[in-house]
Amino acid sequence: MAPLGNEKNQLYLGLFIHSVKLGELQYLHDTAVCVDKSGKIVAVEQQYDQKKAEETLYPKLGWKTDDVTVTIAKEGQFFFPGFIDTHIHAPQYPNVGIFGKSTLLDWLNTYTFPMEASLSSLPKARRVYTRCIQRTLAYGTTTAAYYATIHVPSTNLLADLCLSLGQRAFVGRVCMDNLGPDYYLDESASQSLAATRATIDHIRSIDADFDLISPILTPRFAPACSVDAMAQLGALHKETNLPIQTHIAENVDELKLVRDMFPDSKNYADVYDRFGLLGKRTILAHAIHLSDEEVDLVASRGSKVSHCPCSNSALTSGVARVRWLLDKGVGVGLGTDVSGGYSPSVLDAARQAALVSNHLAMPSRTGEKQIDAEAEDDRERVRLSVEEVLHLATRGGAEVVCLGEKIGGFEVGKEWDAQLIGLGLVPDEDDGTESKQDEDQDQEHDTGNVDIFGWERWEDRVAKWVFNGDDRNVKKVWVRGRLVHQRR
Ligand code: GUN
Ligand code: ZN
Repeated sequence: MAPLGNEKNQLYLGLFIHSVKLGELQYLHDTAVCVDKSGKIVAVEQQYDQKKAEETLYPKLGWKTDDVTVTIAKEGQFFFPGFIDTHIHAPQYPNVGIFGKSTLLDWLNTYTFPMEASLSSLPKARRVYTRCIQRTLAYGTTTAAYYATIHVPSTNLLADLCLSLGQRAFVGRVCMDNLGPDYYLDESASQSLAATRATIDHIRSIDADFDLISPILTPRFAPACSVDAMAQLGALHKETNLPIQTHIAENVDELKLVRDMFPDSKNYADVYDRFGLLGKRTILAHAIHLSDEEVDLVASRGSKVSHCPCSNSALTSGVARVRWLLDKGVGVGLGTDVSGGYSPSVLDAARQAALVSNHLAMPSRTGEKQIDAEAEDDRERVRLSVEEVLHLATRGGAEVVCLGEKIGGFEVGKEWDAQLIGLGLVPDEDDGTESKQDEDQDQEHDTGNVDIFGWERWEDRVAKWVFNGDDRNVKKVWVRGRLVHQRR
């Protein structure tokens, strides 16, 4: 059973920051957000304090003061929508940072398949998955699109743990019946599909309407799946309208493999399209080496892209052209791609998304000739701003997982998936007396890596957070109004 809701109504007060559109953050100062027992936002009012909320909002909502918990963002703190990780492999979590100088195909064989295969052990899976969920919650990830392994029991366990620890999740049993080591491969297309159906049934038994946990069809990537398996997954999608996740155009050797294995397909995107796997609910990870023709197909099908900059750099895969994807009308979110990506933090992914976009704007090493003003403008446009990468981390991600109506921002009707961020205020040494802020900081100890002197504009504080922040700045995390992480 999904959790029934929260014991009390909730009032949140202070500064709220969220993305209202690509490139634009809204700063709601002195604001009250009311969340009902089902975890839904029922009021957002500016120019409010607790007294005014009690006097005017509670009666309107039919709330009694002793039936409300109040959470206040103190000076220097702000509420931000929970992060959405649109692509993460939970069983690879023990391998974060371990990739040496490998690239995709040898990385899979050397590090990834052995680790995933070992998670047939339920005690090991419990240990790994519990820590992965706790760690990502601590980094502010309120929704994750997870790949599990080929094993039904441990995939079901991942779903159980997400539900009990309170993380919104898509959980996919990995389908791979074609290419992989003997010790880690589905027996056949029909066995792969039967096993997938078993995990769907299990998730339905723990969360009937997929309110918090949803299954997601997960053909690992085209080379790993037989034509039969992909055709059956396409049919299953048609039958259930369940979401789909897979990888596309990540690495040049992978492209060659796809060309050799699917000579009848026009290109990589066409392989998925032929089997009915490119739809509005499809999340395509990486999309680095797509052609113009492919991106047009992806856009026309309404499929989305998970941009995984940490992974793309770590595995030397390439730089995805995010502005190009956006310009073509493809929805983009961020993925950590643990453990191709070395960091489970979506904030890190946002930082890397900004930095790798700068690489696209840099002059090439081969001594480019003078470029004209128009080309210079184009080059400038590919860069992603702090506001843009935070959009991808929240509202953009919500669109990618088709939950744009439910999460990603602070509007009435959305669910309260949020994080309370605190930045370190540097004490004023000359003052001599302990300020209230110093006391607050002493109590919290853990002010993290972001030093705020007090003169910074809020826009600059947010930029400092994006480039230097980490889990120490994440004080509290809620999913659907439930407190799921608190930093002690
Ligand atoms: N392609 C197929 N499997 C994987 C995987 O586990 N990680 C990444 N990054 N790419 C893949
Ligand atoms: Zn991946």
